[in-house]
Amino acid sequence: MVNTKSFFATLAALSLSIGSATAFTGRASWDVLGTKPCPIECDKNLDYRVALPITLFPNGERCCERVHVQYQDRGIDVTFTDLCLSCANSFNISLSHQAFSQIADLKLGQIYPVDWTFFPKA
Ligand SMILES: *[C@@H]1O[C@H](CO)[C@@H](O)[C@H](O)[C@H]1NC(C)=O
Repeated sequence: MVNTKSFFATLAALSLSIGSATAFTGRASWDVLGTKPCPIECDKNLDYRVALPITLFPNGERCCERVHVQYQDRGIDVTFTDLCLSCANSFNISLSHQAFSQIADLKLGQIYPVDWTFFPKA
């Protein structure tokens, strides 16, 4: 007989660890117009900001959390401050130009593929 209880406990633990470490892959642009601020106000004086797809966080879940964005061998740590409307139904993101310029030339306008993931919660 399979031990149902421990099976589900394992399953729950597994999905938890996947949930916190999930990396999304999409395209990054910078200072996209189709964004709106998170419903909760994050630190306004941040240069390194990211707007994440509104369809993933319709109520601003995880707003103000830290996100790591990786493009090729360049990475940048940013704060999730805005919701990206034009990124709806994708894993595409919009970086502040300050953040974008740390991982690619602004002249490129957009870069792909970019991996982004939330920092594990302390
Ligand atoms: C997301 O990025 C991909 C790759 O560049 C692109 O094909 C797609 O149209 C984008 N989707 C949205 C909603 O912007």
